Amino acid sequence: MNKPKFIGLDTRYEIADGQCLQRIHMDGAASPLAAEIAQTTMQNMLPHYSNTHSYVHSSAHISTKALTWATDITLDFVGAKSDVYTAIYSGSGATAAINRVARGLSIARKERNIVLVSAMEHHANDLPHREQGNQVIYIPLTGEGANQGAVDLIALEKLLSKHRDQINYVAVSMVSNVTGIVNPVTEIARLAHKHDALLIVDGAQAIAHIPIELSQSDPSNEIDFFIFSGHKLYTPGSPGILIAKKTLLKQMGGQDLGGGSVSEVSYHDYELQTEFPYREQSGTPNILGAIALAAVMQALEQYGKDNINRHNRELILSLVSSLSKQPNIVIYGDQDSQRTGAIAFNHSQIDHGLLAAILNDYYAIAVRNECFCAHPYVSSMLKEELWKLDLDDISPDQEQAYINAKRGMVRISISLYNNQSDIDYLINSIKEISLKINEYQKHYKSMPDGSYLHKSFSLNWQDYLDL
Ligand SMILES: Cc1ncc(COP(=O)(O)O)c(C=O)c1O
Repeated sequence: MNKPKFIGLDTRYEIADGQCLQRIHMDGAASPLAAEIAQTTMQNMLPHYSNTHSYVHSSAHISTKALTWATDITLDFVGAKSDVYTAIYSGSGATAAINRVARGLSIARKERNIVLVSAMEHHANDLPHREQGNQVIYIPLTGEGANQGAVDLIALEKLLSKHRDQINYVAVSMVSNVTGIVNPVTEIARLAHKHDALLIVDGAQAIAHIPIELSQSDPSNEIDFFIFSGHKLYTPGSPGILIAKKTLLKQMGGQDLGGGSVSEVSYHDYELQTEFPYREQSGTPNILGAIALAAVMQALEQYGKDNINRHNRELILSLVSSLSKQPNIVIYGDQDSQRTGAIAFNHSQIDHGLLAAILNDYYAIAVRNECFCAHPYVSSMLKEELWKLDLDDISPDQEQAYINAKRGMVRISISLYNNQSDIDYLINSIKEISLKINEYQKHYKSMPDGSYLHKSFSLNWQDYLDL
């Protein structure tokens, strides 16, 4: 089966020297390019678009059936048996779904007010747990500082034993959105359950890279709540997804209420639907996005999830290997840990904001920099470097800007549409930038927030859109 096609691989942008270059997209960890099948499915669906929950007219029939099909495909895509798990569409991404679970579990298991959260989380899998009045204890990672690895299973087990009967749940990401380091989620599930805690896994960075098998032969190894965003799986405009065990959802309150999730409503009372996903799906879900996402999942499944895993993992290995041979480069995270999807690095002679700007402005390479909504994790890896900063020659009013310019990293992420020539081009560009840094630097002014602005070149977004 052929690799799915993607939209925007031939997009060209004018760059600072007046050339027009084909953009190389290496920012898929934020949002990858769209799969063509997502667009085709939306186009095919639009003439039949209707709200769901009815079979009375033909469009409603098509939409209702297609959404049920999409839910089934979604469960299959993550290897979740439908007698145990349900799939719920939530808001625009993973953030809404994680907030939903944090709220529900805090209500359902309020006698347990400790939550264990890994020290490498995106804010989306950290702040919602703090917000529910829980005491959050951070699970240490293996290694130290810039060389931290995955969740430290020995430390986790100690925390689980020490706070037994007080821990509501453990929350970890399957893959870090900063370092691409992969956590051993099956082992984490086993440990959490052994100590009567539940497990929430943020799969936002795993879903496009690793084959997921939620249903296991031993249920004590199963993840209770698995969450991801459709836009991270080549489907912009698609919903967030919560895959949850139905038995747990039944014990949880805190869902959004409204039409669709209730069976009987009087002026004084209401009854929730008994069936999933309806009981959890109030209001009109993102029908179009959910169906497009399922079509993408089907295409990826047909191409082969193992092929995808291998392709992305090999490119990351190649990237790490080439980048680490360059002078002045530090790649964050334990070098022996398993990684996929993304890596973060710094060049000791070039601030993260400047390097990211030059890559875009002179090479049309799209990467991301700063702290990637994972400030505590990024800070913990940069701590030593920031401590070593010599602020003696910096005037007090420039101090914060100087620190901001150093507090961050550059992240390269790999998607299914990237290939070895993208990596070669990136590495050659970094080599050239290193040699010509003084020349490039003259064209930029540094901003108080740590970013760098080109003095004479800027992109006019309206030139690119018919708006
Ligand atoms: C690991 C991780 N979790 C959660 C999120 C939040 O996803 P969304 O913005 O789609 O809600 C992101 C987004 O980058 C992420 O990388």
